Amino acid sequence: MKIITAKSAGFCFGVRKAVDIAYEAAKDPGPVFTYGPIIHNQSVVDDLAQKGVRVIRSREELSEIHGGVIVTRSHGVSREEEELLRSTGARIVDATCPFVKRIHRTVDQESAAGSRIVIVGNPDHPEVRGIMGWSHTPVTVISTEEEARAFTHEGEGRICVVAQTTFNANKFKEFIDILYKRGYNIACVNTICSATHERQAEARTIAKRADTMIVIGDSTSSNSAKLYEICRKECPDTQFIQSWRDLRLPPAGGDGVVGITAGASVPLTIIEEVQLHVRAEF
Ligand code: F3S
Repeated sequence: MKIITAKSAGFCFGVRKAVDIAYEAAKDPGPVFTYGPIIHNQSVVDDLAQKGVRVIRSREELSEIHGGVIVTRSHGVSREEEELLRSTGARIVDATCPFVKRIHRTVDQESAAGSRIVIVGNPDHPEVRGIMGWSHTPVTVISTEEEARAFTHEGEGRICVVAQTTFNANKFKEFIDILYKRGYNIACVNTICSATHERQAEARTIAKRADTMIVIGDSTSSNSAKLYEICRKECPDTQFIQSWRDLRLPPAGGDGVVGITAGASVPLTIIEEVQLHVRAEF
């Protein structure tokens, strides 16, 4: 049996950075919190909890906090949320991914200069809600082709278009073409991060060769669910697991190629455990 593990499996740069920051903050002697779970991975959240890091899950919970340390997530927060966090008197440790932070700055500066802001992305995603909160002017979020076609803009003013970092690059280009054809004055900033695309492309390539494909990810993680969907198209025996305990023996037994990949919030230790068990049990 041959095992191929994707090089891009697991944490992206921004998530690794946020998790490292949270573990560093955990050493603080005072109370330490993360504003929302630091990543979509229960084992990491539980491990941090053991080290005394608590998760703030709502604004009511936040209102009960006075002092300590609060770590934000890689998705980032809106300006209003940032101010709210500061008003608790806690020391704020910003773990926003630098790529997301760059979008905040663009939106802040462009909207302050009078541009209308358009975000291509999912309006319900915390990253998009955070980005919206850095604009000084009303924001339009476009997530579908219909919404791109229905978009209208009065006057000569400039439109600044940015994207959610994990948005599909082809769709983004399609939407921009639709807006350009209207003759609007557009400043397009492609803020899509290549980490997601690279992970998906590598998973697809491995799944094409694999007899059994294993996708590791938390059940609540949308990027892991997307990886599973991509791999299943190429390899019918694709397993979506949270840890080695969920592994099933492949129908063809232990021969052939087993591919392994993992979503952006899966720590290396979990990937290594799966590798070990595949080697031992398949
Ligand atoms: Fe940052 Fe890209 Fe990851 S934006 S959080 S490195 S997917």
